[in-house]
Amino acid sequence: MNQIFRKKSINDLLIQGQRKDLNRSMGLLDLIFLGVGCVIGTGIFVITGVVAATSGGPAIMLSFVLAGIACALAAFCYAEFSSAVPVSGSVYTYTYATLGEIFAFLIGWDLILEYILAISAVATGWSAYFQSLIAGFGMQVPKMLASAPGMGEGGLVNLPAVLIILFITALVSRGVKESITFNNIMVFIKLGVILLFIVTGISYVKPENWTPFAPFGLEGIVTSAATVFFAYIGFDVIATASEEVKNPKRNMPIGIVTSLLICTVLYISVSAVLTGMVSYTHLNVADPVSFALRVVGQDSMAGIISVGAVAGITTVILALIYAQVRLSYAMSRDGLLPKTLAKVNSKFKTPFINTWITGFVAAGIAGFVDLTTLAHLVNMGTLAAFTLVSLAIIVLRKKHPDLKASFRVPFVPVLPAISALLCLYLALSLPLITWLSFFIWLMIGSIIYFSYSKKHSHLN
Ligand code: ALA
Repeated sequence: MNQIFRKKSINDLLIQGQRKDLNRSMGLLDLIFLGVGCVIGTGIFVITGVVAATSGGPAIMLSFVLAGIACALAAFCYAEFSSAVPVSGSVYTYTYATLGEIFAFLIGWDLILEYILAISAVATGWSAYFQSLIAGFGMQVPKMLASAPGMGEGGLVNLPAVLIILFITALVSRGVKESITFNNIMVFIKLGVILLFIVTGISYVKPENWTPFAPFGLEGIVTSAATVFFAYIGFDVIATASEEVKNPKRNMPIGIVTSLLICTVLYISVSAVLTGMVSYTHLNVADPVSFALRVVGQDSMAGIISVGAVAGITTVILALIYAQVRLSYAMSRDGLLPKTLAKVNSKFKTPFINTWITGFVAAGIAGFVDLTTLAHLVNMGTLAAFTLVSLAIIVLRKKHPDLKASFRVPFVPVLPAISALLCLYLALSLPLITWLSFFIWLMIGSIIYFSYSKKHSHLN
């Protein structure tokens, strides 16, 4: 019993954080860009439309506020952890030091699912905008290769989604520096097109489109919040980069909070403009943001937005692959997963094999599963992680009162407790099938833990 609750010593973690296995090449701006790059993507560009049409209506603005509050509370906890214990692995490592090995393993296992499925989900959104973009030039992906089975007419595999994942995997596997520069350029483009959409769209807003404001009632607002939550996923990814950041104690908390703030403001503005331009009932389309512009006759602007969306969503895939690799790297380094995953390539200084395994698995899933199913599962995994990180902060404060963090969560334990409850509340609005799949995944994880990880753990 004692074995499964064994904990990593915070001191060992701090020493490990000072070793330089990976390159410390990222500054604060790179970090904020990584955050924004990872956060704004398929959520705002695709899911907003589906949700407004089917469960939120114009009140989707409030759903973004609700989901944003849940994320902000969790972000505070992430920020304190990442500044106190700046090592790779994020919530997995924090849990290891506070709640014990079995919790750490299960949350790591949960996050692996979250990240891999998120890579696939986001690539599906990328594929939708890519296809809408080339349609503007009169080109078309053959139906068989355009969507997952059961989605589009005669779809067999979503080939664009598969190919984009493999392309980004190749970039990430070749080293942080190149990928980060690529990310930074793409983020500029993405922010540009979102601002362009807001500025262009605002003059076409008809306030009557905002009535009825909440056609699906309060329940609709909460259900929608649990789904658009997907749009915020990614800021936690910054915390997984702490071993590659200069001056992590200062840069990590500022990076997390700033990128979340930028995204929240943009989401509320985009959803307000979108539902103001077109009646929410028409928004259940694959490319709602471009669609709204086409409806008001701004065709060339719609084209520009599609280009930006394709570029923007690309960076999300990049950051998610990056996060999944760093996480499984940390778990493997601790002996909880096979050693191969922690092998750093001497030429590129990256976990090369691990990166390619991630890419192939995510590409395989992206080819064959639809977006909404994937998004619900991703949200479930994330909400579970947020709940745990909130609880872990309370434990951290109790067990290590003198640990120096450059950022501290205010009103502990009240604020982290509210954070955990809010995440749980949102998770309860996800479909039953999502809960079921999630538990099956955790069962598989438990079997692996007891048959492999417990024995091979370096703490053993
Ligand atoms: N937040 C990311 C997106 O919306 C996952 O694409």
